[in-house]
Amino acid sequence: MWLLIILLLCVPTGGQMDQAKAVITLQPPWVSVFQEENVTLQCEGPHLPGDSSTQWFLNGTAIETLTPRYRIAAAGINDSGEYRCQTGLSVPSDPVQLEVHKDWLLLQVSSGVFTEGEPLALRCHGWRNKLMYNILFYQNGKTFKFSPRNSEFTILKTNLSHNGIYHCSGMRVHRYTSAGVSITIKELFPAPVLRASLSFPILEGNLVNLSCETKLLPQGPGLQLYFSFFMGSKTLMSRNTSSSYQMLTAKKEDSGLYWCEAATEDGKVIKRSTELELQVLEATTKKEKVGFGNLFGLWSREEGNFLPSKDKYLEEELKCQEQEEELQERIH
Ligand SMILES: *[C@@H]1O[C@H](CO)[C@@H](O)[C@H](O)[C@H]1NC(C)=O
Ligand SMILES: *[C@@H]1O[C@H](CO)[C@@H](O)[C@H](O)[C@H]1NC(C)=O
Ligand SMILES: *[C@@H]1O[C@H](CO)[C@@H](O)[C@H](O)[C@H]1NC(C)=O
Ligand SMILES: *[C@@H]1O[C@H](CO)[C@@H](O)[C@H](O)[C@H]1NC(C)=O
Ligand SMILES: *[C@@H]1O[C@H](CO)[C@@H](O)[C@H](O)[C@H]1NC(C)=O
Ligand SMILES: *[C@@H]1O[C@H](CO)[C@@H](O)[C@H](O)[C@H]1NC(C)=O
Repeated sequence: MWLLIILLLCVPTGGQMDQAKAVITLQPPWVSVFQEENVTLQCEGPHLPGDSSTQWFLNGTAIETLTPRYRIAAAGINDSGEYRCQTGLSVPSDPVQLEVHKDWLLLQVSSGVFTEGEPLALRCHGWRNKLMYNILFYQNGKTFKFSPRNSEFTILKTNLSHNGIYHCSGMRVHRYTSAGVSITIKELFPAPVLRASLSFPILEGNLVNLSCETKLLPQGPGLQLYFSFFMGSKTLMSRNTSSSYQMLTAKKEDSGLYWCEAATEDGKVIKRSTELELQVLEATTKKEKVGFGNLFGLWSREEGNFLPSKDKYLEEELKCQEQEEELQERIH
């Protein structure tokens, strides 16, 4: 009986919303560590009532630990691998690739894969916590950060330009250089394209629908985009969930350069379209056009109107005949 109720309660919600994904966080936050260092993996996700167990997977194989925290004390090479976790009501987490190294200097990163807008933390870490100084961080072989003492650096908002291979070097008696670490940044959505429902020429009084078109990454976790429309430096619509903007009756003054912006709710990722030039033709130009159109209209009316009126005449005559017949039938 209870099982049935639970099933009935769970099935509709499971079908309606995406099931929550478990999330692994690391303490300390680095996905690469030296041998003999300690790391704790923490799994967060919704549990079944009365069951707080957590399943851990290493390289796809379930491991014995069932607690939400998985502590690796004095990491060994065999602790390297792909970790995932899952709680009772979650789907398995994204993988965390943990690497255990043996070296003099290690560039530690908070993850190997990011979605643009997320922060990327880097640490140039000496074996047995030996202090390093005059630290240099490199991306694709080029230095991008020098730090006399601080071995940590955070890129607050990553974008696609942060893809690449990173390494660091630091002084201690002599200069040590770390191995390279690959960083992948996934695009959340491409820069939008601004489109107009009417192409040139737009006439005064026309309705013009502008749309700001882009596409969220499929695994974008239930994100909502906000759209803004601009003409030159003037804001036409600010941060609206609607990706279209209507100019109900275009005027000559509406001619100009239009652009739009798509942004995430937290504003961490903002992308703008290229400019689109719209030209609204004024009334005099319109008259010429209409005049030309009228000529065309008259010409077509001459041919067209004759037949319809003939048809109408026949139709009415037919109706009359039918009514007469009906009347006669009633009389009989
Ligand atoms: C790891 O944790 C143990 C205590 O559980 C501690 O004695 C040891 O110093 C830690 N190792 C490092 C490298 O911090
Ligand atoms: C790694 O090896 C050590 C012994 O060398 C063992 O105690 C530990 O359970 C192993 N870890 C994994 C994840 O297999
Ligand atoms: C998991 O896979 C990684 C690399 O694919 C390997 O280095 C590691 O030894 C594997 N760990 C276990 C416990 O199988
Ligand atoms: C990427 O971020 C850097 C700052 O970290 C910034 O200078 C650069 O303009 C950004 N690139 C793009 C395409 O937004
Ligand atoms: C404007 O264009 C967009 C995209 O083509 C469309 O989804 C929207 O319904 C249009 N709005 C109106 C009022 O025509
Ligand atoms: C968003 O746009 C819609 C339609 O264009 C409009 O009705 C609505 O008021 C706008 N909302 C805000 C907050 O501007």
